[in-house]
Amino acid sequence: MKTIIEPFRIKSVEPITMSTRKAREFYLQAAHYNPFLLHSKDVIIDLLTDSGTGAMSSEQWAGIMRGDESYAGSVSFQRFERAVKDITGFKFVIPTHQGRAAERILFSIMCKKGDVIPNNTHFDTTRANIEFQGAEALDLKIAEASKPEVYHPFKGNMDLEKLQQIIKERGAKNIPIIMLTVTNNSGGGQPVSMENIRQVSRLARKYKIPFYLDACRFAENAYFIKLREEGYKRKSVKSIVKEMFSYADGCTMSAKKDGIANIGGFLCTNDEILAGKEKDLLILTEGFPTYGGLAGRDLEAIAIGLYEAMEDDYLKYRITSTEYLGKHISEAGVPIMLPTGGHAIYIDGRNFLPHIPKDQYPGWSLACELYLEAGVRSVEIGSVMFGVYDEKKKKDVLLPSLDLVRLAIPRRTYTQSHIDYVVEAIINVYNHRESVKGLKMTYQAKYRRHFTAHFKHL
Ligand SMILES: Cc1ncc(COP(=O)(O)O)c(C=O)c1O
Repeated sequence: MKTIIEPFRIKSVEPITMSTRKAREFYLQAAHYNPFLLHSKDVIIDLLTDSGTGAMSSEQWAGIMRGDESYAGSVSFQRFERAVKDITGFKFVIPTHQGRAAERILFSIMCKKGDVIPNNTHFDTTRANIEFQGAEALDLKIAEASKPEVYHPFKGNMDLEKLQQIIKERGAKNIPIIMLTVTNNSGGGQPVSMENIRQVSRLARKYKIPFYLDACRFAENAYFIKLREEGYKRKSVKSIVKEMFSYADGCTMSAKKDGIANIGGFLCTNDEILAGKEKDLLILTEGFPTYGGLAGRDLEAIAIGLYEAMEDDYLKYRITSTEYLGKHISEAGVPIMLPTGGHAIYIDGRNFLPHIPKDQYPGWSLACELYLEAGVRSVEIGSVMFGVYDEKKKKDVLLPSLDLVRLAIPRRTYTQSHIDYVVEAIINVYNHRESVKGLKMTYQAKYRRHFTAHFKHL
């Protein structure tokens, strides 16, 4: 059969409230042209994030009912720990309420002022947690990753020459960790090859620097390795995952992604002394080491979801449906980041709306127009999110090289016809793109301005 179907039946549904363009104009104006400030009931298809927005399976719901809520020594923790150890091979597993809590604990212990932490591309919470310690978060992605139109099977790879150079320049003693984010979310959801993971690990070991994976989308990354890297076609995703983790000394994880849970995360290490320090810190802010900020039922859902995320049928449907969205809009001329990544499609906002100058936020304007057109919520990853504003000059003084609009696809949540609807919406906007106007920011908070900023149309 050529048709790839969702490998599940739907047992429980959540209604979507349909709306007219006129109503959406009102909602968006009330939200100050900031999609983050919209009420979710006013959104038809929500592609703001794939984090915590997936649909749990009947097995996971059964696990929820089994959850052991004991404060200490919960059976649910034992199941969770067994699953994480089985999948990752790491010796010590520390549950956290989500990924950034694992990052905060790791970096508070591992880094200090003046240190530098290389990654292919740091996710924004990873960067923020490193910078909070006074250390530097350095992105060392390969050159191809900055060119949306250039094909490379593993655009998430780290530039090994740059890594070597940084180790020489800054000294291994000032690099407490080297990280790789799989897949590279901020770099377009692009995978990292096994060869690159191996080489980064080799360099890290040579200089005795601990090597960590930011493993949020470990299963999607493994599936890309199976599809695109020589020698892996016949290997199971589980064995590819095992090999990926075998090169690392630890990982941070948001189980809201490839744990297919609505909340949760963990931190892993093979270092017993480090694990002890991490657990001490965990107790201060997250909770006892056998629940770490989660309910027993969440631990059950994660233990099951981690395995479901590695199933071939699921991954085939997931990666193919993302690819389908990318293929159909790019065939209509819409400029996107190529090849399509695992969890999201990234539209090149500046090329989509070339008549809107950078300082009028073309990516953000496109995200607003997609909402007005069809109630599709996306997120700008560009000038609003990463621009640097100078309070004295009252303007942005530094803008990133790309204005991307990310359409992140929640796991097992939307069907083929929802994706067709999104394709139609994007193509409609593309066909009347000259009429889309730029925006002026009228309010911004000091930190993480994209969450709360206000805009008006020009
Ligand atoms: C690559 C990456 N790392 C870390 C995080 C942070 O995880 P959480 O949102 O669970 O704190 C995210 C979340 O989107 C992510 O994509």
